[in-house]
Amino acid sequence: MELRAVRGMNDILPDEVVQWHRLEGAFRAHAELSGYAEVRTPLLEPTALFAREIGETTDVVEKEMYSFERHGDHLTLRPEATAGCARAYVEHSIHAREPVTRWYTLGPMFRGERPAKGRYRQFYQANCEIYGDAGPLCDAEMIDFVASFLRKVGITGFAVHINSLGSGGTRERYRAALLSHFLPMRSELSEDSQRRLEKNPLRILDSKDPRDQKAAATAPAIHDLLDEEDAAHYGGLRRYLDVLGIAHVADPTLVRGLDYYTRTLFEFRATSSDLGAQNALVGGGRYDNMIQNLGGPKVPAIGFAMGLERLLESIPREPLRTGLDCFLAPISAEGAEKALLLSRELRALGLRTEVEGRGGKLKRMLGRADKLGARLCIILGPGELERGVVQVKDLAAHSEEEIPLEGAARVLADRVVGGAGGARGTR
Ligand code: HAM
Repeated sequence: MELRAVRGMNDILPDEVVQWHRLEGAFRAHAELSGYAEVRTPLLEPTALFAREIGETTDVVEKEMYSFERHGDHLTLRPEATAGCARAYVEHSIHAREPVTRWYTLGPMFRGERPAKGRYRQFYQANCEIYGDAGPLCDAEMIDFVASFLRKVGITGFAVHINSLGSGGTRERYRAALLSHFLPMRSELSEDSQRRLEKNPLRILDSKDPRDQKAAATAPAIHDLLDEEDAAHYGGLRRYLDVLGIAHVADPTLVRGLDYYTRTLFEFRATSSDLGAQNALVGGGRYDNMIQNLGGPKVPAIGFAMGLERLLESIPREPLRTGLDCFLAPISAEGAEKALLLSRELRALGLRTEVEGRGGKLKRMLGRADKLGARLCIILGPGELERGVVQVKDLAAHSEEEIPLEGAARVLADRVVGGAGGARGTR
């Protein structure tokens, strides 16, 4: 039997990791500019955390979680980060330290969905959460954060969809209105929706099944049911988005696949990539009840997550600078010892350096230096060492010279910094 990576789970090889570092680095810098601090929570959480907070009748909890029992505990590989962060917020009484908390986290999530382009079983999210601010300004600022991040990394083809699910009373009224709409057409719905109808009619609006989509097209819109405070919140958000110049679609069909949301929902959808049905780049919203549900005080919250694979699919690949600064080519046993010491000095000065440790002919070593895109090839042969020098071939300038071995590291560092700007290599 051939052993391969688990279906829907990807190896990310070094060439690609460089692109990942770039995106993650840009995200960290952007998050820190807006006052978010990094939090890291476990990949495993109690199954009950997700079942309760994400919702028993969601696809994620019903069909997609990787759950198992070990040492008497029911555990699940996290399908998302929000519930785990909220658990940590409550567990460490963060509310007692500060009135408003801004956290970000980066890492892998696990959902047993049907794999497709942009949809994987292990995927990575960049996630932000704000606890302690209930107002629409906070929502607008978060949406602006996402929009400016996407532009910063070169993604401009996206549409911002927003909606409000209201809070307490509104949600109940909406549930009742949806139930009266869907009940008479029950037999025309998908099997999942027929089963979930009474418990969670909202899920039908989110279904990808054409039968459900047909029934949902004529469903009542929640906007007509928002109470005064919910409507004021939604209106406030839209005004702030206008102030920020963020074009947005007020989309009553946007309900999102997780049950914890209250009031504001938002999604950024790619409009100019070939992600097909997986065009949701970023999804988020308010979840004002979760902290209290988990045993904490009444603290409102809002957050979002973006799928890093989907972002990377949407960003043009830039050529990478992967070349070396120095390649050391020792031609004798003594040369090898000197090369080992010189390489340590060069790296301490910040030069990317490799030593040819396999011995062999100079010609092959020069070929290898060229292949690696090295800027300088430093030859340590018996003749040179006898004279206390090394030979330096500048592979970019096609020149060569001898320099004293003593103090060579400094001289080489000056050559690299003062020359054509370091390593030559691009891939
Ligand atoms: P979500 O909409 O389930 O929300 O996921 C957010 C983003 O993660 C999606 O827009 C997509 O880019 C990416 N994503 C989701 N599933 C997959 C998959 N199977 N393969 C690849 N990428 C995927 C959440 O997870 C919420 N926790 C967001 C949030 C944070 N809400 C409040 N705070």
